[in-house]
Amino acid sequence: MQSAGYGLVVVSNRLPFDGTVGPDGEPSWVRSPGGLVTALEPIMQEADGAWLGWCGAADAVIEPFDVDNMRLVPVPLSESEVADYYEGFANDSLWPLYHDVIASPAFHRLWWESYRRVNRRFAEAAAEQAAQGATVWVHDYQLQLVPAMLRELRPDLRIGFFLHIPFPPLELFAQLPWRRQVVEGLLGADLIGFQRAGDAGNFVRVVRRLTELTTRGQVITIPGKHGHSPRHVRAAAFPISIDSKKFDALARTPEVQQRAKDIRTELGDPKVLMLGVDRLDYTKGIRHRLKAFGELLDDGRLTVPETTLIQVASPSRENVGAYQQLRDDVDMAVGRINGEHSNFGQPAVHYMHHAYPPEEMAALYLAADVMLVTALRDGMNLVAKEYVAARSDDRGTLVLSEFTGAADELTGAILVNPHDIAGLKDAITYAAHLDPREARKRMRRLRRRVLTNDVALWSETFLAVLTAVPARNTHG
Ligand code: G6P
Repeated sequence: MQSAGYGLVVVSNRLPFDGTVGPDGEPSWVRSPGGLVTALEPIMQEADGAWLGWCGAADAVIEPFDVDNMRLVPVPLSESEVADYYEGFANDSLWPLYHDVIASPAFHRLWWESYRRVNRRFAEAAAEQAAQGATVWVHDYQLQLVPAMLRELRPDLRIGFFLHIPFPPLELFAQLPWRRQVVEGLLGADLIGFQRAGDAGNFVRVVRRLTELTTRGQVITIPGKHGHSPRHVRAAAFPISIDSKKFDALARTPEVQQRAKDIRTELGDPKVLMLGVDRLDYTKGIRHRLKAFGELLDDGRLTVPETTLIQVASPSRENVGAYQQLRDDVDMAVGRINGEHSNFGQPAVHYMHHAYPPEEMAALYLAADVMLVTALRDGMNLVAKEYVAARSDDRGTLVLSEFTGAADELTGAILVNPHDIAGLKDAITYAAHLDPREARKRMRRLRRRVLTNDVALWSETFLAVLTAVPARNTHG
């Protein structure tokens, strides 16, 4: 660590690299999955910043180190904290609660205690790394108590918080037994960023109903104690994006272009290649997508081998019950469709339960005529943006769920309600047979949006608004 500390400190549950400690005691690193890493890496490489987070392995004690111009500071989690804070409170209470209770959230006091303890550890680590008057940017639902804990330790800091997932309506948020503590934790920040204006609106409404604080538009006022002036917290939308130009350039490389052609050849040159790419998560609507696709084959509206679907589902949160159930359901649905509709060497669905490197993803996007994003609820959905960024040929059609943050921006997509299976089937058929001129027009519109609104603009905008907060906006 620099003796005076870092001027920009990013705090997220995961570090951008997964670390393991080998038998020789030496740590080794691979890039970790998840949209957040993709989104923040470019900013961290530009600024000489420090990034605090968990390395992804229980009980690993790893010293801070530097990678790609980033200072990485591992925050350790014990095995029971992985179970109670990460798999429990973060991913079995908050995750389903914030995603429209698609799965039922479980609430356990033991999990909450662990969440508080781990949030305090992150706050203390950030307080230790940050220089006087530094900016600290805290990320996502795993760390909602950090802003207030950090402000208490270091009132000199500018604190920003960004929620990558949706913020639920009051009627759902109110179920949380510790709802008030979570709101107070977030209000420790100077700026609270959300994906959509609707999320920011939900939060302000929650503040109005669950606290006595006054709000005016996006601004919440916290009265100063002991004669100090009041503090203002702003809640606003900052829709996240990807490093679009980098992805566009990757998809233009001769290797990726060739790989895309090879993929199509290996699949027997289908007329229509459809693609789904998700973390294996129940919020992504994979079951609904497979149901619609299977029924279209049953009805004869789509046929194999003219049409084929590639579904890439990267493993995620495999110790949480709802994810195990989903895996079984998807295995079964794919098996049923393939049992009924595949021919020798010509499966209806190619299902891959693993992650691929960005080069292979870019080739898959380029190879696919129709991209299916059917999430039941999704903060943003960066896969939709990656698909668009890859299509410098202006071809390909995006079918996009209305329930993603991306739908607010990506108006050139064919929007669907994935709960409406009949409507989803019609939209998939429409996309499969879309007039190429119409498809091109839509893709051009999508690309204008995705290539201008990239992740650099997102982070610059967020940090500019945060930096405009007067210094020492303290509670007193
Ligand atoms: C979502 C969340 C991120 C999370 C990622 C991967 O994008 O918003 O905070 O890192 O999923 O999930 P995981 O549980 O593997 O970190």
